[in-house]
Amino acid sequence: MQAKRIAIYPGDGIGIEVTSEVVKVLEALMKKVGIPLELTEFDWGERYWRTHGKIAPDDYLEQLRTFDAIFLGALGDPENVPDHISLIPLIGMRQGFDQYACVRPARLLPGLKTPLSDKVESQIDLMIVRENSEGEYIDAGGFLRPDAEDGTAVQVALHSRKGVERILRYGFEFARKRRRKLTMATKSNALKYGMVFWDQVFEKIAPQYPDVESEKCHVDALAMNFVRCPEAYDVVVASNLFGDILSDIGGTISGGLGLAPSANINPQGTAPSLFEPVHGSAPDIKGKGLANPIAAIRSAAMMLDFLGFQDAATSVDTAVETVLRAGQVRTPDIGGSATTTQLGDAIIEAL
Ligand code: NAD
Ligand code: IPM
Ligand code: MN
Repeated sequence: MQAKRIAIYPGDGIGIEVTSEVVKVLEALMKKVGIPLELTEFDWGERYWRTHGKIAPDDYLEQLRTFDAIFLGALGDPENVPDHISLIPLIGMRQGFDQYACVRPARLLPGLKTPLSDKVESQIDLMIVRENSEGEYIDAGGFLRPDAEDGTAVQVALHSRKGVERILRYGFEFARKRRRKLTMATKSNALKYGMVFWDQVFEKIAPQYPDVESEKCHVDALAMNFVRCPEAYDVVVASNLFGDILSDIGGTISGGLGLAPSANINPQGTAPSLFEPVHGSAPDIKGKGLANPIAAIRSAAMMLDFLGFQDAATSVDTAVETVLRAGQVRTPDIGGSATTTQLGDAIIEAL
């Protein structure tokens, strides 16, 4: 089998620290089970900025396009580079490679505590399917006299029939492989164009999946219900911004952001898909060995699954669960005192 070529893009802050654990896991799999991968690392981000005055080369999309998949740690170094600049490649890859489905599982893993202390593992198992190519994240808007006392800004959201329909279909197909329930986040009580449009597309698509129970829920109520009764949900489809916010809540109730994985999928395979933890570069803990590498390692497992290495993906997930269940080696965010590297090593040991 020809080696799958993976672009490794550690980025900034703890992105660099957790990606180095991912690389260790992938190298262990290459050695132990012989899965054919070829890893190519890119130093883009704040490090690149310091020497080149930009966060990535102008042709970064072209450089990445030929890879089979991209693994990203996290971007952002707000002390040195404004976020709306350092995050450009992330949104650029999602939109430029048409990774329109952002899949973010939020499942309570064995041996972990959820802040919802009366909930057990089987009650927290959500799959957030976030529209990832348009919505509130399109680059359209402008300033009028931004520095003036009466300055204004306009930020435009775009919801296309093609975009809404394809993410809903992706969600319905996903629900068929799970518990056959789909909830669409809306806010049509206030956003009377964009979200009314989402509702209309939903009303048209949902009857085509009679085997899936489906409903709409206003996103504010949904946020509350993720905390109140997560067991009521299976697949949750949301617009770009709603999906972003809901996936931080999902990550938190399933044990913390240090565990939450994510995949930005181009379902047609016309460009590489991108795998990254839900969390950011966590400047508050960077360089201290405190970062939990599990979110990144589980994102790498999603990448292996996507590339067709299902057995390797399952063995990574199982190794993570074995280490969590044993409870001996944990980073501080999940109640232990191990370092990033020690937890990465324990997972490789369990592989
Ligand atoms: P963040 O996700 O980086 O951190 C939020 C909180 O969670 C922090 O207290 C952090 O210490 C903790 N945390 C996150 N990941 C952790 C891990 N693996 N182990 C232990 N604790 C962890 O969000 P933020 O502070 O809002 O953003 C920091 C920077 O990251 C900003 O520049 C932001 O724009 C960027 N960001 C990037 C991405 C991405 O690249 N995908 C995602 C979110 C935020
Ligand atoms: C995420 C992040 C990004 C987003 C930011 C960093 C642009 O929060 O991946 O969840 O909003 O999509
Ligand atoms: Mn986010």
